[in-house]
Amino acid sequence: MSKFQATASAPVNIACIKYWGKRDTKLILPTNSSLSVTLDQDHLRSKTTSRADASFEKDRLWLNGKEEEIKPAGRTATCIKELRRLRCEFEGANPNEPKIADLHLHISSFNNFPTAAGLASSASGFAALVSSLAALYKLPATQSELSLIARQGSGSACRSLFGGYVAWNMGSKTDGTDSIAEEIAPRSHWPEMHALICVVSDDKKGTSSTVDVPLLQHRITSIVPERMERITDAIRRRDFNTFADVTMRDSNQFHATLLDTDPPIFYMNDVSRTIIAIITELNRASVAAGGSLKAAYTYDAGRTPTPRLEDPFRLFSQEETPGLGALPLGFNVGVAKKYQIGGVKG
Ligand code: PMV
Repeated sequence: MSKFQATASAPVNIACIKYWGKRDTKLILPTNSSLSVTLDQDHLRSKTTSRADASFEKDRLWLNGKEEEIKPAGRTATCIKELRRLRCEFEGANPNEPKIADLHLHISSFNNFPTAAGLASSASGFAALVSSLAALYKLPATQSELSLIARQGSGSACRSLFGGYVAWNMGSKTDGTDSIAEEIAPRSHWPEMHALICVVSDDKKGTSSTVDVPLLQHRITSIVPERMERITDAIRRRDFNTFADVTMRDSNQFHATLLDTDPPIFYMNDVSRTIIAIITELNRASVAAGGSLKAAYTYDAGRTPTPRLEDPFRLFSQEETPGLGALPLGFNVGVAKKYQIGGVKG
């Protein structure tokens, strides 16, 4: 085995304030800041091993055991290039270190959950890739500095470099050097918090976060800045009522803006809407009894369902699309399991 090898894993995150829309698609600079909760590292993570060896003839990448092309100007190539550049600087400053920046790399990554099912696998994937190369290259970089590179793989990946509650500040510079992730609070800050993940469909997501959405402009300028402040403050104060309220409103608005796209994008289905109805009722009953909010929901981007078109009228019949009340709980839900909020392992 080559002595130049390192393995790192990174967890999935779920955004409570959603990132959607880019002001620079190459550098992946977002049009709004976002905030996420890191999920359980043991159950929902990507694990990546990187190796540098003089016998390798080119950089190669395997995802879940299948080789994927590293496109020359693609996102994986960009991350590798940036980390190599930092290793060159490191070797320049540390002449006794082995010269490995010029060696080709073999990188192998495995996810332990369905890829692109709305659990941003690109987020944990790029975070694990960047972490493993940073470890291989022994880079003296902070997680926030590495987030600048992971962000160029997949925007939401910059948040997966941290555990607990993580903000990605959009920044204002055109070179992206201030578009950076930072931890708001570690997982241990709020031990009562748990995440329940319902995989409603494990199809791949069909739309990227680059799509142009007219309503987004309103969201970017008038809504998100205030929500970022409110939710950050709520996390610091462990105020679940505000955290839940902002999280649910942001999920709703995110999906409303997708509906404003031409053609409209539907990421939620009847099962997703049933879960919303159940949580709404749970919270209503709790508040009516003098209590506080018990749960919040948030939905990421899954795949737009493709209807069977042999008989389009069937789509509108009552039997085929029963009302929310008629849908049994758990229908079509692949996973419904209680997870810890995640930390980050080295
Ligand atoms: O990082 P991307 O390009 O896969 O976009 C992720 C976008 C959402 O997951 C829908 C929201 C978010 O902030 O994670």
